[in-house]
Amino acid sequence: MSNQIISNAQVYFNPILLGCYDFTVYRFVSRFIWGCKNEILLQRYRQFVQTKHLEVGVGTGYLIEKSIKGYQKENMRLTLMDLSVACLDKASKRLEKFNPSKIRHNILEAPIKKGQQEEEKQFNSIGINYVLHCVNGDFKEKGIAFGNLKKLLNENGVLFGSTVIANKQSLIVAKLFIRVLNVIGLFNNNNDKVNDLEVALNTHFKFVKVQVVSSVVMFVASDCEV
Ligand SMILES: C[S@@+](CC[C@H](N)C(=O)[O-])C[C@H]1O[C@@H](n2cnc3c(N)ncnc32)[C@H](O)[C@@H]1O
Repeated sequence: MSNQIISNAQVYFNPILLGCYDFTVYRFVSRFIWGCKNEILLQRYRQFVQTKHLEVGVGTGYLIEKSIKGYQKENMRLTLMDLSVACLDKASKRLEKFNPSKIRHNILEAPIKKGQQEEEKQFNSIGINYVLHCVNGDFKEKGIAFGNLKKLLNENGVLFGSTVIANKQSLIVAKLFIRVLNVIGLFNNNNDKVNDLEVALNTHFKFVKVQVVSSVVMFVASDCEV
Protein backbone atom coordinates (compact mmCIF):
# COMPACT_ATOMS: atom_id res chain seq x y z
CA MET A 1 0.00 0.00 0.00
CA SER A 2 1.39 3.42 -0.90
CA ASN A 3 1.88 5.97 1.87
CA GLN A 4 0.05 8.81 0.13
CA ILE A 5 -3.19 10.06 1.70
CA ILE A 6 -5.74 7.66 0.27
CA SER A 7 -8.78 9.08 1.99
CA ASN A 8 -9.23 12.33 3.93
CA ALA A 9 -11.55 10.46 6.28
CA GLN A 10 -8.87 8.14 7.67
CA VAL A 11 -7.74 10.65 10.29
CA TYR A 12 -11.11 10.16 12.04
CA PHE A 13 -10.79 6.39 12.37
CA ASN A 14 -8.62 6.47 15.46
CA PRO A 15 -9.11 4.66 18.81
CA ILE A 16 -10.58 7.71 20.59
CA LEU A 17 -13.29 8.48 18.05
CA LEU A 18 -13.99 4.79 17.51
CA GLY A 19 -14.89 4.68 21.21
CA CYS A 20 -17.91 6.95 20.50
CA TYR A 21 -18.76 5.47 17.09
CA ASP A 22 -21.51 2.98 17.96
CA PHE A 23 -23.34 5.40 20.21
CA THR A 24 -23.13 8.33 17.79
CA VAL A 25 -23.82 6.45 14.58
CA TYR A 26 -26.17 3.67 15.63
CA ARG A 27 -28.09 5.31 18.47
CA PHE A 28 -28.48 8.67 16.81
CA VAL A 29 -27.19 9.69 13.38
CA SER A 30 -28.13 6.65 11.32
CA ARG A 31 -31.63 6.50 12.69
CA PHE A 32 -32.61 10.14 13.16
CA ILE A 33 -30.50 11.98 10.56
CA TRP A 34 -29.98 9.41 7.80
CA GLY A 35 -33.48 8.10 8.51
CA CYS A 36 -32.80 4.36 8.58
CA LYS A 37 -33.51 2.11 11.57
CA ASN A 38 -30.67 -0.20 12.62
CA GLU A 39 -33.03 -3.14 12.27
CA ILE A 40 -33.25 -2.57 8.49
CA LEU A 41 -29.47 -2.79 8.13
CA LEU A 42 -29.24 -5.75 10.51
CA GLN A 43 -31.97 -7.61 8.69
CA ARG A 44 -29.95 -7.32 5.46
CA TYR A 45 -26.85 -8.62 7.21
CA ARG A 46 -28.85 -11.61 8.49
CA GLN A 47 -30.15 -12.17 4.97
CA PHE A 48 -26.89 -11.92 3.03
CA VAL A 49 -24.00 -12.94 5.30
CA GLN A 50 -22.83 -16.42 4.43
CA THR A 51 -20.32 -18.86 5.90
CA LYS A 52 -17.23 -17.44 4.18
CA HIS A 53 -17.68 -13.74 4.71
CA LEU A 54 -15.47 -10.73 4.03
CA GLU A 55 -16.40 -7.58 5.95
CA VAL A 56 -14.98 -4.47 4.29
CA GLY A 57 -14.55 -1.13 6.07
CA VAL A 58 -15.21 -2.70 9.44
CA GLY A 59 -15.31 0.39 11.69
CA THR A 60 -16.04 -1.09 15.13
CA GLY A 61 -17.60 -4.28 13.70
CA TYR A 62 -21.02 -3.34 15.09
CA LEU A 63 -23.35 -4.71 12.38
CA ILE A 64 -21.42 -7.86 11.56
CA GLU A 65 -21.07 -8.77 15.24
CA LYS A 66 -24.75 -8.18 16.00
CA SER A 67 -25.82 -10.23 13.02
CA ILE A 68 -23.62 -13.32 13.55
CA LYS A 69 -23.28 -13.44 17.33
CA GLY A 70 -25.50 -16.54 17.57
CA TYR A 71 -23.43 -18.46 14.98
CA GLN A 72 -21.09 -21.31 15.88
CA LYS A 73 -17.45 -20.42 15.36
CA GLU A 74 -16.84 -23.56 13.27
CA ASN A 75 -19.60 -22.56 10.84
CA MET A 76 -18.14 -19.15 10.03
CA ARG A 77 -14.94 -18.13 8.27
CA LEU A 78 -14.63 -14.40 8.76
CA THR A 79 -12.15 -11.96 7.21
CA LEU A 80 -11.96 -8.24 7.99
CA MET A 81 -10.55 -5.72 5.51
CA ASP A 82 -9.83 -2.07 6.26
CA LEU A 83 -7.36 0.70 5.63
CA SER A 84 -7.24 1.60 9.31
CA VAL A 85 -5.26 -0.51 11.76
CA ALA A 86 -7.33 0.93 14.64
CA CYS A 87 -10.56 -0.32 13.00
CA LEU A 88 -9.10 -3.75 12.27
CA ASP A 89 -7.92 -4.08 15.89
CA LYS A 90 -11.21 -2.89 17.41
CA ALA A 91 -13.41 -5.06 15.21
CA SER A 92 -11.25 -8.17 15.48
CA LYS A 93 -11.30 -7.90 19.28
CA ARG A 94 -15.08 -7.63 19.26
CA LEU A 95 -15.33 -10.64 16.92
CA GLU A 96 -12.55 -12.67 18.54
CA LYS A 97 -14.89 -15.64 19.03
CA PHE A 98 -14.63 -16.14 15.25
CA ASN A 99 -10.86 -15.71 15.15
CA PRO A 100 -11.11 -13.43 12.09
CA SER A 101 -8.30 -12.89 9.59
CA LYS A 102 -7.31 -9.25 9.14
CA ILE A 103 -6.25 -7.59 5.90
CA ARG A 104 -5.06 -3.99 5.78
CA HIS A 105 -5.98 -2.94 2.30
CA ASN A 106 -7.32 -0.02 0.29
CA ILE A 107 -10.39 -1.10 -1.66
CA LEU A 108 -9.39 1.22 -4.51
CA GLU A 109 -6.24 -0.79 -5.08
CA ALA A 110 -6.03 -4.06 -7.01
CA PRO A 111 -7.40 -6.86 -4.86
CA ILE A 112 -4.84 -8.62 -2.77
CA LYS A 113 -1.10 -8.73 -2.91
CA LYS A 114 0.39 -12.15 -3.48
CA GLY A 115 0.92 -14.09 -0.26
CA GLN A 116 -1.69 -12.09 1.68
CA GLN A 117 -4.50 -14.39 0.69
CA GLU A 118 -4.37 -18.13 0.05
CA GLU A 119 -6.71 -17.95 -2.90
CA GLU A 120 -8.88 -15.61 -4.89
CA LYS A 121 -12.65 -16.01 -5.22
CA GLN A 122 -12.92 -17.53 -1.80
CA PHE A 123 -15.79 -15.55 -0.26
CA ASN A 124 -19.47 -16.21 -0.70
CA SER A 125 -20.49 -12.86 0.80
CA ILE A 126 -18.92 -9.42 1.11
CA GLY A 127 -20.43 -6.65 3.27
CA ILE A 128 -19.48 -3.01 2.69
CA ASN A 129 -21.66 -0.84 4.87
CA TYR A 130 -21.33 2.94 5.29
CA VAL A 131 -17.91 2.90 3.62
CA LEU A 132 -18.28 4.44 0.17
CA HIS A 133 -19.45 7.84 1.42
CA CYS A 134 -16.01 8.17 3.08
CA VAL A 135 -14.04 7.23 -0.02
CA ASN A 136 -12.68 10.01 -2.25
CA GLY A 137 -14.03 10.64 -5.74
CA ASP A 138 -17.35 10.12 -7.48
CA PHE A 139 -18.73 6.69 -8.41
CA LYS A 140 -16.64 6.55 -11.59
CA GLU A 141 -13.60 6.57 -9.31
CA LYS A 142 -14.80 4.75 -6.19
CA GLY A 143 -16.79 2.24 -8.28
CA ILE A 144 -13.39 0.63 -8.99
CA ALA A 145 -13.80 -0.93 -5.54
CA PHE A 146 -16.67 -3.10 -6.82
CA GLY A 147 -14.44 -4.61 -9.53
CA ASN A 148 -11.65 -5.18 -7.03
CA LEU A 149 -13.93 -6.85 -4.49
CA LYS A 150 -15.70 -8.94 -7.10
CA LYS A 151 -12.41 -10.72 -7.76
CA LEU A 152 -12.64 -12.08 -4.22
CA LEU A 153 -16.20 -13.42 -4.55
CA ASN A 154 -16.96 -16.92 -5.76
CA GLU A 155 -19.37 -17.28 -8.68
CA ASN A 156 -22.50 -17.51 -6.50
CA GLY A 157 -21.24 -14.80 -4.16
CA VAL A 158 -23.14 -11.70 -3.09
CA LEU A 159 -21.82 -8.20 -2.40
CA PHE A 160 -24.10 -6.05 -0.27
CA GLY A 161 -23.90 -2.81 1.64
CA SER A 162 -25.10 0.73 1.97
CA THR A 163 -23.86 4.26 1.59
CA VAL A 164 -25.23 7.69 2.46
CA ILE A 165 -26.26 9.88 -0.46
CA ALA A 166 -28.19 13.16 -0.37
CA ASN A 167 -31.26 12.57 -2.51
CA LYS A 168 -34.87 13.71 -2.82
CA GLN A 169 -35.95 11.53 0.15
CA SER A 170 -33.29 13.04 2.45
CA LEU A 171 -34.33 15.11 5.44
CA ILE A 172 -33.17 18.75 5.31
CA VAL A 173 -31.06 18.13 8.41
CA ALA A 174 -29.37 15.22 6.62
CA LYS A 175 -28.44 17.42 3.67
CA LEU A 176 -26.92 19.94 6.07
CA PHE A 177 -25.03 17.22 7.96
CA ILE A 178 -23.65 15.80 4.72
CA ARG A 179 -22.36 19.24 3.68
CA VAL A 180 -20.62 19.75 7.02
CA LEU A 181 -19.14 16.24 7.02
CA ASN A 182 -17.75 16.89 3.52
CA VAL A 183 -16.21 20.17 4.67
CA ILE A 184 -14.39 18.45 7.54
CA GLY A 185 -13.34 15.58 5.26
CA LEU A 186 -15.09 12.75 7.10
CA PHE A 187 -17.44 12.25 4.15
CA ASN A 188 -16.56 12.49 0.47
CA ASN A 189 -19.97 12.13 -1.12
CA ASN A 190 -20.86 15.59 -2.42
CA ASN A 191 -20.82 14.24 -5.98
CA ASP A 192 -22.46 10.89 -5.26
CA LYS A 193 -25.71 10.10 -7.08
CA VAL A 194 -27.97 7.07 -6.66
CA ASN A 195 -27.99 6.53 -10.41
CA ASP A 196 -24.18 6.61 -10.63
CA LEU A 197 -23.96 3.99 -7.88
CA GLU A 198 -26.30 1.75 -9.89
CA VAL A 199 -24.24 2.26 -13.04
CA ALA A 200 -21.02 1.39 -11.17
CA LEU A 201 -22.56 -1.80 -9.75
CA ASN A 202 -24.03 -2.78 -13.12
CA THR A 203 -20.57 -2.43 -14.69
CA HIS A 204 -19.34 -5.33 -12.58
CA PHE A 205 -22.39 -7.48 -11.72
CA LYS A 206 -25.22 -9.06 -13.72
CA PHE A 207 -27.89 -8.59 -11.04
CA VAL A 208 -28.16 -5.41 -8.98
CA LYS A 209 -30.83 -4.18 -6.59
CA VAL A 210 -30.77 -0.74 -5.01
CA GLN A 211 -33.17 0.45 -2.32
CA VAL A 212 -33.33 3.98 -0.93
CA VAL A 213 -34.47 4.61 2.65
CA SER A 214 -34.25 8.34 3.28
CA SER A 215 -30.51 9.13 2.89
CA VAL A 216 -29.35 5.51 3.07
CA VAL A 217 -28.89 3.76 -0.25
CA MET A 218 -28.73 -0.01 0.18
CA PHE A 219 -27.51 -2.31 -2.55
CA VAL A 220 -26.98 -5.95 -3.29
CA ALA A 221 -25.15 -7.26 -6.33
CA SER A 222 -24.25 -10.66 -7.69
CA ASP A 223 -23.80 -12.65 -10.88
CA CYS A 224 -26.65 -14.89 -9.67
CA GLU A 225 -30.18 -13.63 -9.26
CA VAL A 226 -30.61 -12.01 -5.83
C1 LIG B 1 -17.95 5.02 8.49
S1 LIG B 1 -16.96 3.62 8.81
C2 LIG B 1 -18.12 2.30 8.57
C3 LIG B 1 -17.98 1.25 9.61
C4 LIG B 1 -18.98 0.10 9.56
N1 LIG B 1 -18.91 -0.64 8.31
C5 LIG B 1 -20.39 0.55 9.80
O1 LIG B 1 -21.26 0.19 9.00
O2 LIG B 1 -20.65 1.21 10.79
C6 LIG B 1 -15.97 3.50 7.34
C7 LIG B 1 -14.92 2.40 7.39
O3 LIG B 1 -14.35 2.24 6.09
C8 LIG B 1 -12.93 2.23 6.18
N2 LIG B 1 -12.42 2.75 4.92
C9 LIG B 1 -12.58 4.00 4.41
N3 LIG B 1 -11.98 4.12 3.22
C10 LIG B 1 -11.43 2.90 2.93
C11 LIG B 1 -10.68 2.38 1.84
N4 LIG B 1 -10.36 3.15 0.78
N5 LIG B 1 -10.28 1.08 1.88
C12 LIG B 1 -10.59 0.30 2.96
N6 LIG B 1 -11.29 0.75 4.03
C13 LIG B 1 -11.71 2.02 4.03
C14 LIG B 1 -12.63 3.09 7.40
O4 LIG B 1 -11.34 2.87 7.91
C15 LIG B 1 -13.77 2.66 8.34
O5 LIG B 1 -13.46 1.48 9.02
